[in-house]
Amino acid sequence: MPASISDIRRLLKVKVLPKSSESRRVFITGGTGYIGSALIPILLERGHRVRALLRPGSKAKMPADCEVVSGNALDGHSYRQFIRPADTFIHLVGVPYPSPAKGAQFRAVDLVSAREAIEVCAELGMHHFIYLSVAQPAPLMVMKDYIAVRAECEQILQKRRLNATIVRPWYVLGPGHNWPYALLPVYKLCEWLPFTRDGARRLGLVTLDQLILALVEAVESPAQGSRIVAVPEIRSAQLHTSSAATRKTA
Ligand SMILES: NC(=O)c1ccc[n+]([C@@H]2O[C@H](COP(=O)([O-])OP(=O)(O)OC[C@H]3O[C@@H](n4cnc5c(N)ncnc54)[C@H](OP(=O)(O)O)[C@@H]3O)[C@@H](O)[C@H]2O)c1
Repeated sequence: MPASISDIRRLLKVKVLPKSSESRRVFITGGTGYIGSALIPILLERGHRVRALLRPGSKAKMPADCEVVSGNALDGHSYRQFIRPADTFIHLVGVPYPSPAKGAQFRAVDLVSAREAIEVCAELGMHHFIYLSVAQPAPLMVMKDYIAVRAECEQILQKRRLNATIVRPWYVLGPGHNWPYALLPVYKLCEWLPFTRDGARRLGLVTLDQLILALVEAVESPAQGSRIVAVPEIRSAQLHTSSAATRKTA
C-alpha cells in the first residue's frame, strides 16, 4: 500500500514509543477507510496481529502483514468463523461522507453492521470490543439520525455486557479532512464563554494522530466493563507503558 507523508510521519512517531508487553490479536471491520487504513499499520508496527474483514471483491490494498478475510459486514454469520483467535474487535464500518440526508443508510449500514458485530462477539465471548461512535449529546438538528444510530449501538453494547471501549470523536482532522480548521476561531470563542464551554469541548475537533493513539491505547489497555473515551480523553491519549510492562523492540 503506498504510504503518504503523514502515514510515514505517524509511523516514525510511534516507532520511538515503548511497546506494550502483550501482543493483541485484533479483528477489524471498516479497516479500509480513512481511520482504519491509518490505524492498521500502527497496530502492526506495535507488534499486534491484525485480521481485516473486506467486502467480497474489494480491491483495497492492505499492508502485507495484515491478514485479510472476505465477508459481509452486514451479516455477522458471514465472518463469524474468521474472528477467533482475536481477543480484540474493532468496529469502524460506516456510510461514507455522512450527511443529514443519509438517515436511512445509517440505519441500513451503520446500525446493522454494529449490531451484527456485537451479537457475534457476545456469542463468542470476545474479550474486548472497541466501537467508534460519535460525540454526544449534540445540538438536536445536527446529524440527528447519525447520532441516534450510534446512541442505539452503544445501548446494544451495554445490554450485551461486553467489555467495551466506546470512542466518541466529533470530527477527525487529517489529510483530505481539513475544512473544519476554518472553524477553530469559533471553537476558541465557544471554549472561552462559560455557557458554551462544555459543548465546545465535547464536540471539539481531534486530529487523526490523536484518534489513532487513543485507539491504540484502547487496544493495549482493554476495558473492564464499559469505558467511554470522549474528545478530551482522545486529545490527551498516551500509551501507558510502564517500564515493567514494556516489551523490547526487536
Ligand atoms: N472521520 C470522522 O471524522 C468520524 C468521526 C466520528 C465517527 N466516525 C465514524 O468512524 C467510522 C470510521 O470512519 P472513517 O472516516 O474511517 O469512514 P470511511 O473512510 O467512510 O470508511 C468507512 C468504512 O466502512 C466500510 N463500509 C461502508 N459501507 C459498507 C457496507 N455497506 N458494507 C461493508 N463495509 C462498508 C468501508 O468499506 P469499503 O472500503 O469497502 O467501502 C470502509 O472500510 C465510521 O463509522 C464513521 O461514521 C468518523
